[in-house]
Amino acid sequence: MTKSIFQETVEQFVLSKDQVQKIINGLTDELVEGLSTKDPKNITQQPSFITRLPTGHETGLYLAIDMGGTNLRTAAVHLLGDGQVGVTMQKHEITHELKTGTGQAMFDWIADCTAGLLKTVAIDMGDAELQMGVTFSFAIQQTAINRGKVLAMGKGFDLSDVMGHDLKDLLEGGFARKNLNVKVSAIINDTVGTLVSHAYVSPSTKIGVILATGTNAAYIERASEVSKYNGPTCDQMILNTEWDAMGKAEYLPQTKYDKEIDAVSLVPGFQEFEKMISGLYMGELVRLALVDLIERNAILEFLGGKVPESLSQRLAFKTLFMSTIESDHSSDHAGVDKVFKTSFGIEGLTPEDRARIFQLIHTIGKRSATMTAAACVALLQKANGSSVNLDDPNEITTIGIDGSVFEKYPHFSHSMMESLIEIMGQDRASRIRLELARDGGCIGAALVAMVSESGGAV
Ligand code: GLC
Repeated sequence: MTKSIFQETVEQFVLSKDQVQKIINGLTDELVEGLSTKDPKNITQQPSFITRLPTGHETGLYLAIDMGGTNLRTAAVHLLGDGQVGVTMQKHEITHELKTGTGQAMFDWIADCTAGLLKTVAIDMGDAELQMGVTFSFAIQQTAINRGKVLAMGKGFDLSDVMGHDLKDLLEGGFARKNLNVKVSAIINDTVGTLVSHAYVSPSTKIGVILATGTNAAYIERASEVSKYNGPTCDQMILNTEWDAMGKAEYLPQTKYDKEIDAVSLVPGFQEFEKMISGLYMGELVRLALVDLIERNAILEFLGGKVPESLSQRLAFKTLFMSTIESDHSSDHAGVDKVFKTSFGIEGLTPEDRARIFQLIHTIGKRSATMTAAACVALLQKANGSSVNLDDPNEITTIGIDGSVFEKYPHFSHSMMESLIEIMGQDRASRIRLELARDGGCIGAALVAMVSESGGAV
């Protein structure tokens, strides 16, 4: 029997064992290559200058900000010891105007948000300088624990006068313009924040992963392996892998829809791996496949091959809709109807349309979970024998994972674990814990700020 256009489309998103193994091998090669590369275009495997994890006993009050692809969080973090923290946090959406405006406007706004937080928590330290830890969800090339040059920014950011500048100077410039006596004492990537903060509460944590608007991971590497590092001597260090930016055409199983997302993005050819799995792009993959299927009369046939305006806009199909649809367990997939009616004004779906849309969404979500699991395996194997010991049956390795996709996408953690078992076998996989690490950004930044201020790295 010949396959239907629909079947053929969906199957492009199903990964074979061989394809998964190729991803693991390819990522492993890139993890190794990143340790020594001098190529300025290769932003992977960035040293964090953080040489140990927290003990859980750290105490003190710190300011923190966490700048992500969608929101800016400002926080006052009270480290109470015993793995306990008290956090007052405020969240501000970063508008499209801010994302595509001047660096000065962005850093003025960050200073205003910080001033708002200080007012709320009534921190008044007179003339005393306040220390701040900063989590930055973009690539930076660090030169010290509190200094780093901003490298390429994805996630729809296009800021002028920021790339190549030192983040501490940019932030403190904003604070000075707004008369705030705030000094940046630590700058960390969000994955590093996740690793550090989750280790504070769960000491077997050895890897931090973000799966949100973007994706990335941090782990602990032997310093002797990091030949491109030329800072103070140490035995080991947390590395920000920037796995988002990995992924060569030879091993990434890109469909024509993945290629299209890349081609029309702000920076084509950048963050190919991220564009296949993270929250900013998953919904868009669904939309592109749907548009193609509608045009070929292989779904929603009552539309007569015409794509409604509401589905024609780039990024119109949010990853959140995938979560909503997958959370609906009714046998007739009523959730599909709901999303199509309320968000796209499309009514009259047949039971078959609903089942197909559900299947398409489920397959794209599962591919993301499998590819994330494959990337975790590459990292676990790279760290095995140093910070991780996969061969000891008594050793548990925890991967702390933060981000809307991991937290809100139904069964994501379960799907990842299924893939880990398939790849590593039941025994080894049973020693891995996937744990939700919430709000790691601000807490991690506060922890690193605390120790860096007292002269040591975490
Ligand atoms: C992007 C950034 C990276 C960040 C990740 C997750 O890929 O380049 O630095 O960690 O998103 O937020």
